[in-house]
Amino acid sequence: MKWRTVLVDVLTSEQAAEELKALAEEMAGHDVAYYQNDDPVISDADYDALRQRNEAIEERFPNLKRQDSPSDKVGVTPESGFGKIQHSVPMLSLGNAFDLQDLEDFDTRIRRFLSLDDAETITYTSEPKIDGLSASLRYENGVFISGATRGDGQIGEDITENLKTLKDVPITLPKGVPDIVEIRGEVYMAHDDFKALNRQQSEKGLKTFANPRNAAAGSLRQLDSKITADRPLKFFAYTWGEISDMPADTQSGMMACFDMWGFTVNPDFNLFKDVTALNNHWRDIEERRSLLGYDIDGMVYKIDRLDWQSRLGFVSRAPRWAIAHKFPAEKAITQLLDIDIQVGRTGALTPVAKLKKVTVGGVEVSNATLHNADEIKRLDVRLNDFVVVQRAGDVIPQIIEVLIDKREGAQQAFHFPDNCPECGAQAFHEIRADGEQDAVKRCSGGLSCPAQAKERLKHFVSRSALDIDGLGDKQIDEFWANDLLKTPVDIFKLYQKADEAPEIWLYTSGKNKGQLKDSLTKLFRAIEQAKKPDLDRFLFALGIRHVGETTARLLARRYKTLEGFRDAILSMCDGDEVSKEELASIDGVGDTMMVSLLTFFAEPHNLDIINGLIDFGVAPVSLPEAENNTPISGKIIVFTGTLTRMTRAEAKARAEMMGAKVSGSVSDKTDILVAGESAGSKLKKAEELGVETMTEDEWLEIAAIT
Ligand code: IVH
Repeated sequence: MKWRTVLVDVLTSEQAAEELKALAEEMAGHDVAYYQNDDPVISDADYDALRQRNEAIEERFPNLKRQDSPSDKVGVTPESGFGKIQHSVPMLSLGNAFDLQDLEDFDTRIRRFLSLDDAETITYTSEPKIDGLSASLRYENGVFISGATRGDGQIGEDITENLKTLKDVPITLPKGVPDIVEIRGEVYMAHDDFKALNRQQSEKGLKTFANPRNAAAGSLRQLDSKITADRPLKFFAYTWGEISDMPADTQSGMMACFDMWGFTVNPDFNLFKDVTALNNHWRDIEERRSLLGYDIDGMVYKIDRLDWQSRLGFVSRAPRWAIAHKFPAEKAITQLLDIDIQVGRTGALTPVAKLKKVTVGGVEVSNATLHNADEIKRLDVRLNDFVVVQRAGDVIPQIIEVLIDKREGAQQAFHFPDNCPECGAQAFHEIRADGEQDAVKRCSGGLSCPAQAKERLKHFVSRSALDIDGLGDKQIDEFWANDLLKTPVDIFKLYQKADEAPEIWLYTSGKNKGQLKDSLTKLFRAIEQAKKPDLDRFLFALGIRHVGETTARLLARRYKTLEGFRDAILSMCDGDEVSKEELASIDGVGDTMMVSLLTFFAEPHNLDIINGLIDFGVAPVSLPEAENNTPISGKIIVFTGTLTRMTRAEAKARAEMMGAKVSGSVSDKTDILVAGESAGSKLKKAEELGVETMTEDEWLEIAAIT
């Protein structure tokens, strides 16, 4: 809006009133998007800018401060299927600092308020500001009674059952804790867990999450706590609400108690004696921000002495004794030169912004993802637009804003193609398992689309698939360009082709004759070895939509041979009900997967490839027969926590070989839970349900692996 460019100092009171109203409305909209829908439309930094602007205007025109002023609001009143919980002590927010000057002002305000002179040392605590959702956990007589979201700070949502599934949330506290304790902190999702969850979601044909915070919010606000139990959420404790008896007289003392009581406190919790030291440490953390493994958006400083904290008290929505020192978002302005459409293995058309080179947070960026057609529409981004690019952690840079004011006529709207740019086939939106239309547009060309075919080849030989050493992305690109490799069957014809046209090999490899001979010998050996892959790897290698490694293993176990699998699915395509039921009876195979398998086999190319591979001597090896007389045959077993002596995949394979069924979640049907190191919610649930639990050592004994 235009008037936001007017300096606050020169605003007339009419302009100020008008802007305060507009800000209140706009920010209320953003609050709903962020807190209620878990789907923010502007960046945190932009939201902070709105808040700062609002505060600056209110400071100059205090009598114009509105009843619905955003500066008095913390989040939004919950509106959902959850019960409500009134917080006994309000859950507040924090004021923000953006630079050393803001910190010095903060320190000065405190000294003035407490009448401390400059010689007096103020000890501050410092800890990361976790980018998650705050929650309050209430314990009475050492037992977890209820848990709530922040909501509007006064009333939150009752998410007790969901919080119980977090391993960082103890159900009981050790003896000696005060009768009433409310622990408050942040629920978040670590980067690795976020990536794994998104992988799982897309394998199941479900919606993926835009970032770890959204994933955490979406996971925590599930009406069915069983879903939350399967989501890898974590919790850092950093403050408290009601407490019947204070166990310490400093913030750091309180944190030490939390730690002793079994809560997780942030390892980067430190004490500093002045704001310069806080600022230096802030810089250090910012540098290693991307290595922490979870998102943070700044540091939080609190006065260590609790008597000072209570004297300082609160001002509207935030304590006077604490402040959030935000990191600047890693952003830069540049120009959008073009939009490329990349076609992935599954036909997904991904728009990639080609940018005029720009440095963002020390890294040179010339590409940014635009996610999908909807995102282009949402941003209304046009070719030649000036745009703001953001790089957060190790995520691919994204365009977060278009500078509309900078348009001078050279901009052109981008029409998202209706056809695949690589093969011309029609592009379409799939309907997801939840019935919604997927935002991603896909090429319908299947293997006749060269881009899809090439990406599928790369997948076919990749590490978790046939794992052919010497056939990397680069070689595939070269062989493809020289017509040596178009389908997986061609891999097994390469040997012949090397004899027929050796000059192509020399030309494409850029190697001398001797080197070429060596690498070819190695390559052919690897190809020969790949003729006997485990059946599950082979099925995964086919690249059937939604058939990830886990499903591939389930299919391999059920159908035993490639021919068995092929014939069963083909009969299903012909309408055979028995084959359909057999497939549907596999745990973990749902409608999305059935449709995928049918679609795959309905495409003659795909069947030709399978048959061609068989003709060339590719003979996938059946998984070993499950034994039926072991202590665990027929039992349902769940692995959780970190296993130190074998990978989770090995453990699963071993258990299945011994006739057990491995499941991912604990229920009353579970027979055994094997709990590795730092097992969490699943272990807790198993104990509650009275399921037999085993340590890793006990499991190894049964598995006869010593
Ligand atoms: S202390 C009364 N410490 O940031 C002070 N908050 O923008 C209570 N947050 O509402 C907050 N990490 O959701 C505190 N280490 C930390 C934090 C933290 C994240 C969140 C919290 C708070 C919001 C304020």
